[in-house]
Amino acid sequence: MTEYHRPRMSDASMPTTCVPPVAPTMTAMVYQAYGPPESIAVTTVDTPTPQRDQVLVRVKAASINLSDWEMLVGRPLYSRIWGLRRPRFRTLGSDVAGTVVAVGSAVAKLKPGDDVFGDIMGHFGGFAEYVTVPAAVLYAKPAELEFVTAATLPQAAVIALRGIWDRGQLVAGQHVLINGAGGGSGTFAIQLAKARGATVTGVDNEHKQDYMRSAGADHVVDYRREDFAAHHRRYDLVLDLVAYRPLSVYRRILTPRGRYFLVGGSMTRLLQAACVGPLLSLVGGQRLGVLAVEPQPDDFARAARLTIDGTLRPHVERTFPLRGVAEALRRVGEGHACGKVVVTM
Ligand SMILES: NC(=O)c1ccc[n+]([C@@H]2O[C@H](COP(=O)([O-])OP(=O)(O)OC[C@H]3O[C@@H](n4cnc5c(N)ncnc54)[C@H](OP(=O)(O)O)[C@@H]3O)[C@@H](O)[C@H]2O)c1
Repeated sequence: MTEYHRPRMSDASMPTTCVPPVAPTMTAMVYQAYGPPESIAVTTVDTPTPQRDQVLVRVKAASINLSDWEMLVGRPLYSRIWGLRRPRFRTLGSDVAGTVVAVGSAVAKLKPGDDVFGDIMGHFGGFAEYVTVPAAVLYAKPAELEFVTAATLPQAAVIALRGIWDRGQLVAGQHVLINGAGGGSGTFAIQLAKARGATVTGVDNEHKQDYMRSAGADHVVDYRREDFAAHHRRYDLVLDLVAYRPLSVYRRILTPRGRYFLVGGSMTRLLQAACVGPLLSLVGGQRLGVLAVEPQPDDFARAARLTIDGTLRPHVERTFPLRGVAEALRRVGEGHACGKVVVTM
């Protein structure tokens, strides 16, 4: 592919520096309508141009989150927030790590050559060779972290941090139940809970029981065969990554001052937790509601530090090439992946 120094910048968006050479076109994984992974096509498109506050990143690794799958298939309904009938963003991919290759005129905090990572949800485009993103949403990648490792962190580790440490306020000796514990966020949630000295019950499918134990779970439950609510255990905290049960079930298994946070799941459960949860929280000591996570670059810094010091141990189950995005998405969406799946360029 011919390489060139980018010539197509208006004065307003002219980057201050522009190295190394950037190809005029790039490969992007594009879909036009909500549907199965097969609807994603390998497409050659113009390489995007960074606006004033943006940087152009050469993507080195992009991890898959369940949210990518949900936005691909258009379910649950909240995944259509950016386009009810058709997807507004035609290239998915929100957790990226890569190298800045061009910067907009107003960008001071990053320069070409900087290695960065972050959650670019709301901008998307990570399943491509290059992506333009506001500089403000990225964080410098520490040299100690490989690109693949860094790409596993932004969304999944920050959900776990917020749910277990920040809002969850889990402390030593407490009991936590993590529903969907064998996936991306769940693995980090187990590790953070154990780091706090809590007792962890992980719930996921039969193929992830050993994996959850290896991540640190003290007790594991196969949700297809057992009902976690039938165990007569009481939990100080429930982090629900895949909520399909009514709040009444969780109220029963929480301690009198227990906390329940819904992170993802069905639309019905989301609405119930958002509307009824705060009302139920007014009576008695239990707290129930939705955990809405809007990660900041500082959160990525924190996740990186915790990975470098060994508190977080990202588990990359498999990597796929860019053209294998459909298969990578299917692996996560159909629940086969333990931990994280990463696309590498
Ligand atoms: N609140 C926010 O701000 C926010 C932001 C970003 C993402 N999210 C949400 O976060 C959630 C978790 O994402 P993730 O990337 O960690 O997902 P993930 O890696 O796919 O992990 C989810 C796990 O839950 C399992 N599972 C599915 N149904 C289950 C059930 N009924 N009971 C127990 N386990 C079940 C899945 O396996 P099987 O499917 O094989 O059973 C999978 O192992 C997603 O729903 C996403 O939409 C929320």
